[in-house]
Amino acid sequence: MSAFVVKGDIFYCKSLSETVSVKDGYVVCIDGRSAGVFEVLPEKFASLSIHDYSGKLVIPGLCDLHIHAPQYSFRGTGMDLELLDWLSRYTFPEEVKYADTDYAYRAYSIFADDMKKSATTRVSVFATVHCEATHILAELLEKSGLYGFIGPVSMDREAPQKLCVPAPEGITELDNWIDENLCYNEHFLPIVTPRFVPCCSDELLRGLAEIRRKYALAVQSHLSENPSEIELVRTLCPYAEFYGDVYHKNELFGVDKKGNSFKTVMAHCVHSTDAEIRLMAENGVFMAHCPASNANLSSGIAPVRKMLENGVKVGLGTDVAGGHSKSVLRAVTDAVQISKLYNCLVDNNAKPLSFSESFYLATKGGGEFFGNVGSFEELYEFDAVVVDDSCYKTVCEQSVAERVEKFAYLSGENINLTAKYVQGNRIM
Ligand code: GUN
Ligand code: FE
Repeated sequence: MSAFVVKGDIFYCKSLSETVSVKDGYVVCIDGRSAGVFEVLPEKFASLSIHDYSGKLVIPGLCDLHIHAPQYSFRGTGMDLELLDWLSRYTFPEEVKYADTDYAYRAYSIFADDMKKSATTRVSVFATVHCEATHILAELLEKSGLYGFIGPVSMDREAPQKLCVPAPEGITELDNWIDENLCYNEHFLPIVTPRFVPCCSDELLRGLAEIRRKYALAVQSHLSENPSEIELVRTLCPYAEFYGDVYHKNELFGVDKKGNSFKTVMAHCVHSTDAEIRLMAENGVFMAHCPASNANLSSGIAPVRKMLENGVKVGLGTDVAGGHSKSVLRAVTDAVQISKLYNCLVDNNAKPLSFSESFYLATKGGGEFFGNVGSFEELYEFDAVVVDDSCYKTVCEQSVAERVEKFAYLSGENINLTAKYVQGNRIM
């Protein structure tokens, strides 16, 4: 049995409206799970070793529900373009390069190393169509100590020929890749990853649904992100009632035709119709809200409050490189800012997100996609990051919650981590 206690200034969310702050508190980890948070350490834990981070902030590890590993190399460039132009001018030409496994190894080594040093503990990752390169990425992520999902993207149209692998070849390659990765990887599970409807024929989507069923996998993709993309979907799939209906009719939207459910996360959902929102809620489909990307790629302002009020599960994503920063804390503050613009410009009745609500989305909200993750409540998997906020000097007396908010707003892409734990293992 492995058991220890982490001491520090602890902050986490129990729900969208309930936070817990404990100054000079203790969180106990037993066999990779939290055994609770205490102001005074109970006698029964008194013999455990204490990792003493007094004066530092202890928060749950952050969950990134949507990120593109091959795009990490060019993040922060091409940010004056709109989605479809950005895909054809920056993203696709870069992703073509991952046919070269040496290039992939060098690029993915930087990505995995930087993710390890970030405050993120769980990620759902898009790779490229190249299975060999994605295998390299899976190995590097596995070694990093993070947990999550990884999928080679599937695509067969509306992209350069070198990125299109039609069924049945694309499906067979994926099948072999999953088979191999399920045996090899412990912390990174394969996830079925149709890029988005414009890049996937119905035949490919149906093949992916079969593979999903065969291995009981989760699904990730993009949905209703950008007006020109949605128009393209309307032309390509006239049979569908709305964008998400294409995934639904092809059994890739949370529930199959027999009524069996499976985890699904859709990035963006900026322009989801009421019918689409209803189906997401009914099918338990997660929304990965990616506020920086939505601004950078002229996609719009996502209706997060409406999603929450309609019972959709919401987490946050960085969507690197549509989003320029890998910091989920940055996504937390962007989500608050963007929700204020939504309130001013789109719907005065939609209450903006508070900081703690947005922090909830980045931890327990998105964490649900990975299991019992994102909180220090008892039996939650023990993912924690310890950060030093003493560089933000002030004469104000600030609460632990205020210090976490300030840290989120002021810390940049590269934060100074004191320690990082994933499922009870210290990885930094
Ligand atoms: N839609 C299809 N591919 C992509 C991508 O790589 N990034 C974003 N933001 N949207 C997409
Ligand atoms: Fe994306």
